[in-house]
Amino acid sequence: MNDLCFIHDSIARWYAKEGRKELPWRNTDNAYHIWLSEVMLQQTQVKTVLDRYYFPFLERFPTIEALADAPLDAVLKRWEGLGYYTRAKNLHKAAMLLTQRQTRGTSPTLPSSIDELIKLPGIGKNTAHAIAAFAFKKPVPVMEANVKRILCRLHAIEEPKDKNLWELAYAQVDRNDPFVYNQAMMDIGATLCTPKNPLCDACPLESVCRGKGEPERYPQKKRRTVPTREQHIMVTLYNDKLALSQRRGRFLHGLWGFDAVEVPLCAAEEIGEVTHAYTHFKLRCKVYIYDELEPAHDHYFTPEEIRKLAISKVDEKILKLYLHSCDA
Ligand code: ADE
Repeated sequence: MNDLCFIHDSIARWYAKEGRKELPWRNTDNAYHIWLSEVMLQQTQVKTVLDRYYFPFLERFPTIEALADAPLDAVLKRWEGLGYYTRAKNLHKAAMLLTQRQTRGTSPTLPSSIDELIKLPGIGKNTAHAIAAFAFKKPVPVMEANVKRILCRLHAIEEPKDKNLWELAYAQVDRNDPFVYNQAMMDIGATLCTPKNPLCDACPLESVCRGKGEPERYPQKKRRTVPTREQHIMVTLYNDKLALSQRRGRFLHGLWGFDAVEVPLCAAEEIGEVTHAYTHFKLRCKVYIYDELEPAHDHYFTPEEIRKLAISKVDEKILKLYLHSCDA
């Protein structure tokens, strides 16, 4: 048996025994469900998606058409807490595009070709490959972070280049069973070939892996220090209601939140600090409260009303801090 046959055979056997075969998006042919799962999983762990987001989202938006017909606010509300809200906005936008394109009397569907998938908002190269492999059984590889790491170790690559990895991935994919091969690669990466302390002894690829012995050398970690952004956040009150506005800029666009100010008002009282780590920076917010004598904002809400709005994790933390300060 040559190495490639061994790899396919070994991976398929491993998946039959150890794979996460019960994941709901692996037990459906519905391309919309698979698309949704891949978008949710782009930056979020399987457990979070499974426990809290995948089913409620599908319950509220069971079809592409239902998603397209819903207001963006409702979509963001179901995405609340998952972060990276551009994903939700792009999903919604893509659903609207597909619905506009549908021919009369038919339901909107996703295209099956990678070239067409990639043209849709929010579908990058990897997600297009995942949808093609899982929904349309195309013989193409998936290339998320776990798979990249496996390829780097298998081929002892310290500083991978994307183009090179895609070539290796295409050469290695099991064209007879891309579904099992790709799902298994992701599972091996998530459960065995982990960034730290990989379980090489249990790995079906151990005998052909050039990285074994010192797997953590591949790939070399890029040291990244993320900057900290400081903000002053004003929780403005009028008649015990809180002023919130809907964000218009690129960052957290569409979500409701408290206002950031350059300089806090003298009369404002500092109630504490909240922090939140984003991918590219850390946010540190000093939080102040200020009681208005006259309402100067457009929208005021009670805490119960705020719970029905889509707000970011940071604003949730700020709200919690405020409510805590009221109890204290
Ligand atoms: N991450 C991205 N796609 C995935 C999938 N289909 N199963 C598990 N984790 C994933």
